[in-house]
Order: sequence, then C-alpha cells, then structure tokens
Amino acid sequence: MTPEFIIVSPQERPHIAYVQLNRPKELNALNLQLMQELRDALQLLDADDNVRCIVLGGNEKAFAAGADIKQMAGRSAIDMYNVDQFTIWDGIKKVRTPIIAAVSGFALGGGCELAMLCDMIVASESAKFGQPEIKIGVMPGAGGTQRLTRAVGKALAMEMVLTGKFISATEALQAGLINRIAPVELYLEEAFRLAAEVAKQSPLAVKMAKESVLRAFDSTLEEGLHFERKNFYLLFASEDQKEGMKAFMEKREPVFTGK
Ligand code: CAA
Repeated sequence: MTPEFIIVSPQERPHIAYVQLNRPKELNALNLQLMQELRDALQLLDADDNVRCIVLGGNEKAFAAGADIKQMAGRSAIDMYNVDQFTIWDGIKKVRTPIIAAVSGFALGGGCELAMLCDMIVASESAKFGQPEIKIGVMPGAGGTQRLTRAVGKALAMEMVLTGKFISATEALQAGLINRIAPVELYLEEAFRLAAEVAKQSPLAVKMAKESVLRAFDSTLEEGLHFERKNFYLLFASEDQKEGMKAFMEKREPVFTGK
C-alpha cells in the first residue's frame, strides 16, 4: 500500500535511499500512522541489499514539530499504555543501515527525538532543536531525556528539557548534537554527500561499526570493547575485508560488494 504521510525513494542516488516526512500542513507532526509507515519503510529499505545508507528528511520549514498533540490530547493514561506508540520507535532503532537525518526548520519534541534516533544529523542554518513538551504539561517520551543528555551533556539537556528552550543549528553543532550545517538550499545535498561517503564503504563493515558505536551507550567499557572485538574479527570472514586490504596494497580504490 502506498504510504500517505511519507514519500519513499529507494534509489534516490546510487545505494542511497531517501525518505521524506510528508505532512507539511501539520509541520510533519508525527501521528501514529506516519510513524507506522516510517518504521515499515525503513525496515523494507534495511532489507534491501542495494541500499547502503538512508537519508531521512522533512521540508525547509520543519523536519518534524513533534508527536501529534491533537491525536494525544484527549487520551487517558490507559489509552496511552494500550496504544503504546513508542514501541513503533523500537522498530526504527533496530534498523542496521545507517540513517542520516536532514533537518531544516523545526525539530521539536518527537521530531528532535527522531533526529537523535538517526545515526548522524545534517542541519540547515534555519534548524531549531528543542524538547518543548514541558510547555504542554508533559515531558519527552521517545528518548529525549536520554539521547539528548548523552549527546549534549547534563547542563544543556536539563535546560532544554526543563524550560523548553530551542537551540539553533550553530548551538547544536557546538554542543555535539549534529554533524554538519549547510545553507538551507544546500542542506539536503550535504546530507546526500555524507550518505555517499558512507555508501562507498563496505556495507557489512558499516553495519557492524554502527552496531558497535551504538553499543557504547548501552554497555560498560569492558562489554563494549568485547563486542567491538568480536565484530572486528567477524569482518575477516567477508570478501570485502580481503578486497579492502588487497586494494590498499595495490594502491587502488576498493570495490565493495557487501559479501
Ligand atoms: N502536533 C499537532 N499539530 C501540530 C504540531 C504538533 N506537534 N505542531 C504544529 N502543529 C500544527 C498546528 O496546530 C497548526 O495546525 P492548524 O493550522 O490546523 O492550526 C500547523 O501545524 C502549523 O503550526 P503553527 O501555526 O503553530 O506554526 P507556527 O510557525 O506558528 O509555530 C511551532 C510553529 C513553534 C513549531 C508550533 O507549531 C509548536 O509549538 N508546535 C508544537 C511543538 C511541540 O510542543 N512539540 C512537542 C509535541 S509532544 C511530543 O513530541 C512528545 C514526545 O516526546 C514524542
């Protein structure tokens, strides 16, 4: 079935897929259907051998202005528990293909949390990041208190979460939340440029490296080092390892096949 609230381009560039959030009138507010469509699309792309990196974007005015407040407003705690909307996010967390968020305009609440669920963030000069849930009587519920704190540290995370303050792209870069800033007319292209740098590497090594970096947030140093070493050794079972090292010695560019 064609999704209603996202646009999926599996081969936007060689080995790069593009997924665009597409509820522009609502500033891409993340309702349940959009998140289900997004999870399903990302999982399909993850299973596609041709896709080595995914760019996730919105539009110039908004990456996403958060979970859909209108959809949630009348719910009881039991409704929230039964709907359990954030389990959908767990499906996105499991995607092994790297995802780059291309953020312009608002990345607020669930929008900021979705960008942080991605592996890297490229922002336009107009990007604004924030966790303003406190202003509507709640708090972040899709990772905002955890991923933001790990990314920018306690001082700034506390200020953003407790006051709802937005930060600019420049502040986000200084704080370590994002990777790159580009002018509004170029930020998407910059995201594709970064994606191309990832997509030219061995896809197996990229997936295992992603998994290992993420493990740093979930484990002790000892466990993380152990996990990393296992993945490093495992890559010696791949043809790409043979090709990569051979190409280095032959002073040529490697040709990676994902095998
Ligand atoms: N949910 C539902 N609708 C939203 C929305 C949201 N999060 N954000 C914006 N919209 C809707 C507006 O209601 C408006 O719709 P109507 O034209 O039908 O009134 C439309 O999008 C355009 O928005 P504005 O007119 O408000 O645009 P603006 O430029 O004046 O303001 C804004 C932009 C500052 C982002 C403002 O829209 C805003 O504050 N939005 C809410 C931000 C927010 O609180 N996000 C957190 C949501 S809760 C959450 O995300 C929980 C979680 O942890 C997952």
